Amino acid sequence: MLNWGIIGTGRIAGTFIRALLAGSSGRPLIVLGRDPERTRRFAAEHHVPESTVNLRTLLLDPRIDAVYVATPHVSHAELSIAALKMGKPVLCEKPMALASADVESVLETSHKCGKLFLEGYMYRWHPQTAKLVELLRAGVVGEINMIESAFGFAAKYNPADRLFDPALGGGAIRDIGGYPLSMAMLVAGAALGREPGAPERFLAGGVTAPGNIDRSSCAIAVWGGRIVAQLSCSLGATLDAALRIHGSQGRIVVPDPWVCNRTEPETGLIRIERDSGCEEILIPADRTSFGYEADGFARLLQSGAREAVSAPFRIAESRALNRLLDEWFQAVTAK
Ligand SMILES: NC(=O)c1ccc[n+]([C@@H]2O[C@H](COP(=O)([O-])OP(=O)(O)OC[C@H]3O[C@@H](n4cnc5c(N)ncnc54)[C@H](OP(=O)(O)O)[C@@H]3O)[C@@H](O)[C@H]2O)c1
Repeated sequence: MLNWGIIGTGRIAGTFIRALLAGSSGRPLIVLGRDPERTRRFAAEHHVPESTVNLRTLLLDPRIDAVYVATPHVSHAELSIAALKMGKPVLCEKPMALASADVESVLETSHKCGKLFLEGYMYRWHPQTAKLVELLRAGVVGEINMIESAFGFAAKYNPADRLFDPALGGGAIRDIGGYPLSMAMLVAGAALGREPGAPERFLAGGVTAPGNIDRSSCAIAVWGGRIVAQLSCSLGATLDAALRIHGSQGRIVVPDPWVCNRTEPETGLIRIERDSGCEEILIPADRTSFGYEADGFARLLQSGAREAVSAPFRIAESRALNRLLDEWFQAVTAK
């Protein structure tokens, strides 16, 4: 069982800890925050035995087997590098960094230190996503032509919120744009019989929020000269998250592609719609996406993996995805 050090005391740190406590591959041992009292309270509420406000205390602790980074985006690269240098494998929330140079620094540190680094796109670890890839490879709706993917929610404008603060890497693209884009990379790759990777064409545009961060935007991406994806993300509107993949003989619809548990608490759902009728496929699952991710990370470590080269989300994808997210952000915010 892995002993986890948790960096961050926000919403998603709580979600990850709950997933760990519900499973058996790891347990949260220490949580790191900025304020001692707040961090102690968070630890008590989330059943984490110890808390600290000192990064070195956490990273030097020989009992810690792995570190989960769940702070605002701007600190991800620095914290991941510090942990890797101290010999700790890292699961880091998305986006792993905001600039391509920082993505490279993290991956280079992981390589040099021989310690596993993984960017946390939890939906990739859920059996619903594995089933989707299987259906695409089997060509159940013929030749894939178009992909529609979106993530958006109407967030109340608050300049102090990390979502809107330019200094904390605010904006929709950096917070949630990676979901539709990484999904389209996965779908196009599976449809073309390749590993998920960057498209050969990528165009983007949108509108900004105060502080010159993006608020709502769309991108168009093309793979293999025959698959085009329409990608959207927004902090201004709650978008229909359903993933639609259009083929020559019908379409595949995934109503809940991100959290993945559509019907029962842990059951995935994929619909295949053809002229002849609609087929619903239920995908049994016994954990949340975060549970699958934490267990998958533990398995990778146990197998001796030092780099995520064949995981459901690979370092090659981190590289391509974060470069494109930056391109998307620059296209929308260019003056
Ligand atoms: N995979 C997913 O489904 C998912 C979902 C949501 C978020 N995320 C990712 O997880 C990360 C954290 O998101 P969240 O929603 O949990 O954020 P959040 O609720 O705002 O929490 C962030 C925490 O980081 C700490 N922190 C450290 N430096 C900070 C700074 N300069 N300003 C503000 N807070 C700082 C704060 O704790 P202290 O005050 O105690 O230091 C805060 O509680 C983001 O990068 C996001 O992209 C992933």
